[in-house]
Amino acid sequence: MKSNILVTGATGTIGSFVCEQLKNINADFTALVRSEEKAAPLNQKGIKTVIGDFSDTASLENALSGMDKIFLLSVTSPESPKLQGNLVRIAKDKGVKHIVKVSALGTSLDSKFGIGRYHAMTEKDIRDSGIAYTFLQPHSFMQNLIFESATIKEQSAIYAPMGDGKIGMVDVRDIAAVAVKALTEEGHEGETYILTGPEAISYYDIASALSATLGKEVKYIPVSSEVAHQGMLDSGMPEWLADDLTGLNQVFAAGKAGDISPDMENVTGRKPHSIKDFVNDFAYMFN
Ligand SMILES: NC(=O)c1ccc[n+]([C@@H]2O[C@H](COP(=O)([O-])OP(=O)(O)OC[C@H]3O[C@@H](n4cnc5c(N)ncnc54)[C@H](OP(=O)(O)O)[C@@H]3O)[C@@H](O)[C@H]2O)c1
Repeated sequence: MKSNILVTGATGTIGSFVCEQLKNINADFTALVRSEEKAAPLNQKGIKTVIGDFSDTASLENALSGMDKIFLLSVTSPESPKLQGNLVRIAKDKGVKHIVKVSALGTSLDSKFGIGRYHAMTEKDIRDSGIAYTFLQPHSFMQNLIFESATIKEQSAIYAPMGDGKIGMVDVRDIAAVAVKALTEEGHEGETYILTGPEAISYYDIASALSATLGKEVKYIPVSSEVAHQGMLDSGMPEWLADDLTGLNQVFAAGKAGDISPDMENVTGRKPHSIKDFVNDFAYMFN
């Protein structure tokens, strides 16, 4: 039976792949977007849209009417438990049957990181609502490397505070693939999937993969936590987020984030993308 699926976060990194992959299998879905301007490029691809914002409950009432399933994703912030809570409450009223939520690896109500606590609060709201759920808890995204493309292009260098720590980074296309399975197949209710790549990689491995694909030597230059933290603040990042990311990066640098999960392969029947796959497919971003 076909379901009506509402895809939130549809203009973002993961959500755009969720839309693309749902469209490829002719699933019936609608993308929630915040403005007509954001709707236009999706509509041009033949994707249905509805205007809405997590902070505007009337817009959520409208968007959730007639929906069976939700792909739930937004930016994470101290406000996100309240904003995503709006959607969960209205989903319950509207009779939504299943929510597939993107959280993060290590999410827990007593996490020392705000990001971990905010996701856990929404997971609790969803559990308490009684709506069937699937939680996706991804590791750090390979696509975050695209933020480093300027120094890779201009200096053939990648700067990061990761020491030689090995990290189970995941390609967001694989997160989207698991989301699409959970949204369109039976049997994923009540599951929490931990999503990593196929192997733990260091920034030295990333630099090697970039060098091999780009045909020039790209060097990884480790920087201190303090320098990276100041860089985040200088770029305008809120202090709580710069603190959280610095703490998480310290965990990565200490080699405590290298565990690999079989969940993506178990759900989709194929191996996750490797760093070589990612760099090959996104080489145009680094050239
Ligand atoms: N980056 C990582 O390494 C990593 C690792 C693990 C987990 N995560 C989690 O992944 C999520 C981010 O995924 P992503 O990178 O795909 O997100 P993203 O690219 O930052 O996109 C965020 C999406 O949320 C939408 N949005 C933001 N505020 C909204 C609101 N008030 N109402 C409706 N929509 C709103 C945005 O719409 P607009 O286009 O209108 O702004 C956009 O579509 C976060 O929850 C994060 O904690 C990230």
